[in-house]
Formats: sequence, C-alpha cells, structure tokens
Amino acid sequence: MTNSSDLNITNPKPTRRGMMTWIIMIGGLAASYGTAAVHALRYLTPNRKPRIWKAYAGGVHDIPAGTSKIYNSPDGRKVVITNTGEQFTALSDVCPHLGCKVHWNESSKQFICPCHNGVFDVNGVAISGPPAKAGQRLAKYEIQPVDSALYITLTEG
Ligand code: FES
Repeated sequence: MTNSSDLNITNPKPTRRGMMTWIIMIGGLAASYGTAAVHALRYLTPNRKPRIWKAYAGGVHDIPAGTSKIYNSPDGRKVVITNTGEQFTALSDVCPHLGCKVHWNESSKQFICPCHNGVFDVNGVAISGPPAKAGQRLAKYEIQPVDSALYITLTEG
C-alpha cells in the first residue's frame, strides 16, 4: 500500500529523488549520444595518412653513368631511374600532358615524350612541347644510394 507522499501526486515540488533520476537520465542520454557522435565522426572522417615506404631499386653499378633503368614498383608504377653521371634521379615515366610514356634519350640527356614531342630535362622539368607550355613536370621520387644499393621512397597513391 502506497500513500500519497510516495507517489508525489499531491506535491508538485520536485523531490531530491526525482531530481537525481532526471540528472542520471539526462547524463546517460548525453553519454550515449556523445559516444554515438564520436563513432559517427570517426566513420565519416577516417584518419588516412598516405603510406610511405622505401624499396630496394637495384644496385648502383646496374645503371652506368648516362643510362637509365625502369623500376617497377609493387603498386604498379614504373619509375625511370637515371644516372646523370653526377646524381641519380627517379622520375615517373608517365607524361603529365596526356599520359604517354616518356623515354630517356642518352645522347641528349633528356626525357622525350613521343606523343606530342614533349621534352623534359634530367630533373623532369618540361622544356618544350605542350608540357612546357602548361608548366608541367614529371613526377619525381626520392632516391638514395646507400653503399652500392639504390633505395627509392614511394608514397601511396
Ligand atoms: S602526352 Fe606527352 S607531350 Fe602530349
């Protein structure tokens, strides 16, 4: 048997127990909606840093001065590694104009794109043809000789 003071029907003033119930209920709702919001934000904005890795790209003596070699990266890219006689460069073989494959010309020490006669210098900067007019260059990768080995740094994407 309950009396009217337990049910709080006749007394409109809030009781301490009623206030505590509301505080706990609002706190629980805020915590659950907050947790759901955090998980929703993580799902919608994933923390994706591009993956960077170094790969063995061959021996220093495999590429004599003035020559080049194609390196096939594990993700399918082809990189032209060139020994200029002073340094090694690693450049994409894809022309930035319309995507044709460039090749290294040993006598002129330039990269030539056969599609529209684009010409790039040893650092991959376009010096004539449509890529030069557009201010384009070949994508460049970091390459380091360590002892007698060459290591190339690749970035995902
Ligand atoms: S695709 Fe290379 S110059 Fe046009």
